[in-house]
Amino acid sequence: MTTSMTKPDIPLKHYLQFSDFTASEYAYIFERAALIKKKFKAYDKHQPLADRTLAMIFEKASTRTRVSFEAGMYQMGGSVVHLTTDGSQLGRAEPIEDSAKVISRMVDLVMIRTYEQTKIERFAEHSRVPVINGLTNEFHPCQILADIFTYIEHRGDIRGKTVAWVGDGNNMANTWLQASEILGFNVHVSTPSGYEVDQDVAGLRSNESYKVFKDPKEACAGADLVTTDVWTSMGYEAENEKRKTAFAAWCVDEDMMQKAKPDALFMHCLPAHRGEEVQAEVIDGPQSVVWDEAENRLHVQKALMEYLLLGKLA
Ligand code: CP
Ligand code: NVA
Repeated sequence: MTTSMTKPDIPLKHYLQFSDFTASEYAYIFERAALIKKKFKAYDKHQPLADRTLAMIFEKASTRTRVSFEAGMYQMGGSVVHLTTDGSQLGRAEPIEDSAKVISRMVDLVMIRTYEQTKIERFAEHSRVPVINGLTNEFHPCQILADIFTYIEHRGDIRGKTVAWVGDGNNMANTWLQASEILGFNVHVSTPSGYEVDQDVAGLRSNESYKVFKDPKEACAGADLVTTDVWTSMGYEAENEKRKTAFAAWCVDEDMMQKAKPDALFMHCLPAHRGEEVQAEVIDGPQSVVWDEAENRLHVQKALMEYLLLGKLA
């Protein structure tokens, strides 16, 4: 009896954090994403996932993740089931393990956006099919996949480059740090005190790929990419007022961008709050690539789903 609905010769693999894949798997995914994007732009059908079904479980709000996974799966010939906490038995305390066993008998792939990373790990442990992290409190690997693909499109290889992270030591920061260890670039991190990254939570092997700066301007000095995120992530809304005070100096402004390299890019995973974590002049300015970054969620996640279900294609 098979335990997975992926092709029998494809080992069951989950994508729960950035460190789940090696540098060579990323090289393959970026190459496929570029091809898939090119075909999409040429209205050339790419439907390797005909008859496959993706279940998307959202315990937090989403625009980009929902649209990119849903549109992506349909464009690849498959279909989608959309579940929310309130609209399913997940909101009525059905154990996550039972939900995983049931859902994964009916679909080929599951994407989950939830709170604790342990929740998605428990789901994956009991799933017959690949599980993708669509954001947890700790990580957002699909976003960093899109961000690095966007960097490569604009500037080439990210190896040896410097990324400045300005803001909260949150899921995005943790994932940038994991990516730096795997893909060989550096991260300059500047957070207000009390909001630092935690190396254990981020799941890092060492502190060699990143450097911490008290002053966000110093973190931006010489950077190839400056990036930030909301001051208050989903699930932390009760801390909003306190955070507004603590983060006041962590707004990416033109001054900070001037400290970075002249050809530095600006990224933000979105949604953004202009006037809080980023000045309108920066996010809407010439160095910003946020719209490419958002679009690329579609292309990289198509490559990711294809890889998880079909493995490496010639
Ligand atoms: N960046 C991102 O994940 O956006 P959504 O919350 O809209 O999915
Ligand atoms: N750090 C943000 C990212 C949103 C896409 C959050 O978790 O809410």
